[in-house]
Amino acid sequence: RKGTEDVLCPANCPLWQFYVFGDGVYASLSSVCGAAIHSGVITNTGGAVRVQTLPGQDNYPAVNANGIQSQVLSRWASSFSVTAGAKNTALEAVGRSVSTARPSTGTGSPQQGKPLGMRYCKADIAFLIDGSYNIGQRRFNLQKNFVGKVAVMLGIGTEGPHVGVVQASEHPKIEFYLKNFTAAKEVLFAIKELGFRGGNSNTGKALKYTAQKFFSLENGARKGIPKIIVVFLDGWPSDDLEEAGIVAREFGVNVFIVSVAKPTTEELGMVQDIGFVDKAVCRNNGFFSYQMPTWFGTTKYVKPLVQKLCSHEQMLCSKTCYNSVNIGFLIDGSSSVGESNFRLVLEFVSNVAKAFEISDIGSKVAAVQFTYDQRTEFSFTDHITKDKVLSAIRNIRYMSGGTATGDAISFTTRNVFGPVKDGPNKNFLVVLTDGQSYDDVRGPAAAAQKAGITVFSVGVAWAPLDDLKDMASEPRESHTFFTREFTGLEQMVPDIIRGICRDFLDSKQ
Ligand SMILES: *[C@@H]1O[C@H](CO)[C@@H](O)[C@H](O)[C@H]1NC(C)=O
Repeated sequence: RKGTEDVLCPANCPLWQFYVFGDGVYASLSSVCGAAIHSGVITNTGGAVRVQTLPGQDNYPAVNANGIQSQVLSRWASSFSVTAGAKNTALEAVGRSVSTARPSTGTGSPQQGKPLGMRYCKADIAFLIDGSYNIGQRRFNLQKNFVGKVAVMLGIGTEGPHVGVVQASEHPKIEFYLKNFTAAKEVLFAIKELGFRGGNSNTGKALKYTAQKFFSLENGARKGIPKIIVVFLDGWPSDDLEEAGIVAREFGVNVFIVSVAKPTTEELGMVQDIGFVDKAVCRNNGFFSYQMPTWFGTTKYVKPLVQKLCSHEQMLCSKTCYNSVNIGFLIDGSSSVGESNFRLVLEFVSNVAKAFEISDIGSKVAAVQFTYDQRTEFSFTDHITKDKVLSAIRNIRYMSGGTATGDAISFTTRNVFGPVKDGPNKNFLVVLTDGQSYDDVRGPAAAAQKAGITVFSVGVAWAPLDDLKDMASEPRESHTFFTREFTGLEQMVPDIIRGICRDFLDSKQ
């Protein structure tokens, strides 16, 4: 029975209440009873359902079946499937409250019935509401109603979620903090009292401000509890959301964009950046964006949003060593390496790169090959997806020639790291060499380190240990690697990744 649980689904639930991701295999935040109807295990007359916990998937497709439209979702940590439940266990389940029936998928997400089992929901949430002329006084009031309903369904309480409100308009205004109210009734009252400010919808400015100012411990943010900003946006923002999204990520905040009344085709010309939703959220997998067609009749959108806000395991949008580093590889292309060993070196580079989340707002990879000469194979901004980076690594052609490692380090510091040195990511250089350098490595490596680059040296075969140590960052022992054979490179991959993550964490303290 491990990994299975029986749930009794009630009859005659309105089908629109069900939020389901996937088809056959459902992401674990899906409604169990919704999934059971979607997959045809039960009809809307209810019944016993057996839930089987399954591993997470990369993709959950959207399929319309049995009156339920499931949603697309990528990468979720766990899944479940449903089959018909056994009669006798179903009777057992009747003894329990249906309202708390949930599968043992470990998501903590509420599944069915009302009130939602909010003892599972722990979050510190800022509602960033739209107070611009775009939305206007009338829809501002509808927005307040909606936010109030979300707050009530969240079940705000001392142990559960805490919420505050910031109003975005020309200038952002924090209306109340997390610590001001810890009862739903008080929050609801405070929301009703909010006055419309008007002005441009400077949502980017407000998002940045909220990420920086709202979640301090003195203002009631709790340690170890996910921080969430739910951004309500009528139409489109009048400023840029991308930088604000990066700042929010830097502060470890999960940004949800609830966009209402999307720009119409005729309006698109007025929108600065039509990709504004994707730029603001940290993961572009559909989870962090939420759309409502209008501010009218929004009641049915309350519960699915609350379910998202309470799915703890998906709140991973903070800076990590995987998504916030630049890694430059300096690759020895000298004659002593040879074509087939050069392929092993490239394999090593690929395997290290693979571990990181490469994207325009995530980690970045660059590669320089050197002999006496240097060649930038690709810079940090050339390829911003993992596939493109891996294919660029595969396509590096072997130069063959002498070995001037010092010059190559200077070249890379200046030309490859120079343009990104003021960016948000932490910089790492991995120097791969198989022999003695003809020039001095000490000075150039010290200059690189002074420029904020952490240097790992990886030596093979004839690379002198002294040179390797001279290049590496302090403490040198943990930044210097050596293997006699090129085939030994493979085993060092996890050590390099761990080293980068360790240094990343150290730099945060
Ligand atoms: C929230 O708390 C702060 C600090 O205790 C206080 O200054 C502020 O007036 C409160 N706001 C509301 C709306 O009660």
